[in-house]
Amino acid sequence: KCLIGYTKPFVKCGKNEYVMAASFRKHAEEIYNLEVRPDDVWVITFPRSGTTWTQEMVWLIENDLDFKAAKGKPLHERFPMLEVTAHIPQVAFELIKANFMNLAYFQGLNHAVRKPSWKAIAEAPSPRFIKTHLPLSLLPPKLLSTAKVIYVARDPRDVAVSYYYLHKMVAKTLMRATFQTFWEAFRRDLLPWTPIVAHTNEAWEKRHNPNLHFLFYEDMIKDLPKEIRAVCKFLNRKYPADKIETLADYLSFDSLRKNKNVNNTAGDNTEVQFLRKGEAGGWRTHFDAEMELQAEEFISTRLRGLDLSYPSFQ
Ligand code: A3P
Repeated sequence: KCLIGYTKPFVKCGKNEYVMAASFRKHAEEIYNLEVRPDDVWVITFPRSGTTWTQEMVWLIENDLDFKAAKGKPLHERFPMLEVTAHIPQVAFELIKANFMNLAYFQGLNHAVRKPSWKAIAEAPSPRFIKTHLPLSLLPPKLLSTAKVIYVARDPRDVAVSYYYLHKMVAKTLMRATFQTFWEAFRRDLLPWTPIVAHTNEAWEKRHNPNLHFLFYEDMIKDLPKEIRAVCKFLNRKYPADKIETLADYLSFDSLRKNKNVNNTAGDNTEVQFLRKGEAGGWRTHFDAEMELQAEEFISTRLRGLDLSYPSFQ
């Protein structure tokens, strides 16, 4: 079914039928067979769950809080995304076909001629920092027995709103879908990387694995220094209290928003930025009463029979 202009060629991959661009299929096996290294650190999320925030935190913790080095290089170079070339160009292409965005954006991406990102990662020297939105079941089976993994989850209602604005950010004036239409596609698991609850549940089920640290975006909003300390412990890094505070200040929404190496907003779009609002519960201003009920039903049916629960949705 065609919603918000998404048509084929999207395919369903893996045990939970994740929606991926057809181009992903060509790379799925190589990604699955990627060699994992013991000194890798991976950040895994569903899109718009606080990936960037966590990546910058993790990179700094692992690099002796070298703020100067962090400011010297874009985050996506220090902490590249695994499936970017296998998946995103075709998503962009679909958006162009649906008249969501202009061709210049796609040409600007220039992914077609670039080495697949998983290949660049496979050849990168250690230690590697790897970002992915792929669920655990599409990743190397030895990942959790070999490397350190941080999974970040967020209230799906806030994710839906944030994901909508991400599309608006890239499509700019060509974005025609209203949030209501987008929400329809989201709740029917038609958008790339969905279904979100299954994605999160795969990591939740492994949360007791010593190599997995499970984080909620809402907990980072509530008490960032506490979550930083927990990540330090997980990564076996020790910093004095004042350094943790310095890192928390550096990672604050206002500070990261000004940081061009992190707030990597496409072009000069000032209307919507990659770091948009940085709130928990902002969905309330986007859902009417009917959508709120739909959201409750969406989450409760998806959670049925699972042990997973969201702190913001009780
Ligand atoms: P909003 O669109 O709700 O503002 P990702 O990096 O996974 O794409 O997630 C992006 C979301 O994380 C955006 O949500 C962004 O604002 C939020 N975010 C990034 N850095 C943040 C910070 N320092 N504090 C709070 N939220 C942050």
